Amino acid sequence: MAQQFEDKFQRKFYYLRLSVTDVCNFKCQYCLPDGYKPSGKSNSFLTLPEIQRVVGAFANCGTSKVRITGGEPSLRKDFAEIVHAVAQTNGITKVAMTTNGYRMKKQIHSWKDAGLTHINVSVDSLDPRMFHQITGENKYFEVMSGIDRAFEVGFEQVKVNVVLLKDLNSRALPQFLCWIKDRPIQLRFIELMQTGEMDPLFQNQHVSGVSIRNQLMADGWLLKQRQSHDGPAQVYYHPDYLGEVGLIMPYERDFCVSCNRLRVSAKGKLHLCLFGEHGIELRDLLHQDSQQQALIDRIQGQLQTKAVSHFLHDGNPGMTPHLASIGG
Ligand code: 5AD
Ligand code: SF4
Repeated sequence: MAQQFEDKFQRKFYYLRLSVTDVCNFKCQYCLPDGYKPSGKSNSFLTLPEIQRVVGAFANCGTSKVRITGGEPSLRKDFAEIVHAVAQTNGITKVAMTTNGYRMKKQIHSWKDAGLTHINVSVDSLDPRMFHQITGENKYFEVMSGIDRAFEVGFEQVKVNVVLLKDLNSRALPQFLCWIKDRPIQLRFIELMQTGEMDPLFQNQHVSGVSIRNQLMADGWLLKQRQSHDGPAQVYYHPDYLGEVGLIMPYERDFCVSCNRLRVSAKGKLHLCLFGEHGIELRDLLHQDSQQQALIDRIQGQLQTKAVSHFLHDGNPGMTPHLASIGG
């Protein structure tokens, strides 16, 4: 291994979130309410060789897990090849993706064959009409059968993301718990995060995860011990349930202490934080394999400027217009 990516607060970075496209076919109210609109040269997402080089550099510096995100990553025609290339990289042991589930039913088998090891799917409501209302797409049943299919092809657990929205799904905990009683699903309730383009939605719909935590604790759910490579979710388990519940509360104190992830956008910019700056250009160093050391040096150098925490508490959402632009 070359050198480990580490910042000046001794945080080590094991985990790369790599966006492979900004394009999405859903219109989630909190992300792309008007649907995807191309910006700049539309054909300029990272190519397969560029993806191999960026993942190779991270793997050489201690990264063992890559999550492929978007937009909707499965809209890339070469998605299975991307999964395969990442899975074949020396040092990468976990290849995850985050998807809206739209192509899961038909394609998850080929993704698994290509080397996908973990999958997160967004399901913001178990009511098909509300699902349609939140995502702009009437695809509830397709997504649900995609999840069934994931178990059939051999995934042991599926993670399901639920963005908490005060007037829409925040009272649906009992319904969600019923769903995971006999299914090995880890539900992940995510507090709505403010991004540049969303003002009134955030003011009207943000709700803290504390009330979910209180309901879980009152019902006998127990907090799992964190492992060093874990993400920021607080995960709860219950002896009567096969499923688990995670809470992701970025507005809670100390959320950033365990940060172990870096992001690369679909156009090849390094983002040190979800709510950071414009992004640091890496693409000029992705043309040839021989540039790997220069790439590593640039990432390591920029990492020294990573701040200890985001500034959301000050009402400053940073430069991110919506999460589809840097992959959530
Ligand atoms: N706040 C919280 N979560 C969000 N996601 C997208 N936008 C936001 C936001 N503003 C989540 C989606 C999806 C993942 C990619 O990011 O639920 O699961
Ligand atoms: Fe698409 Fe995901 Fe954004 Fe929804 S949250 S619009 S599925 S990128």
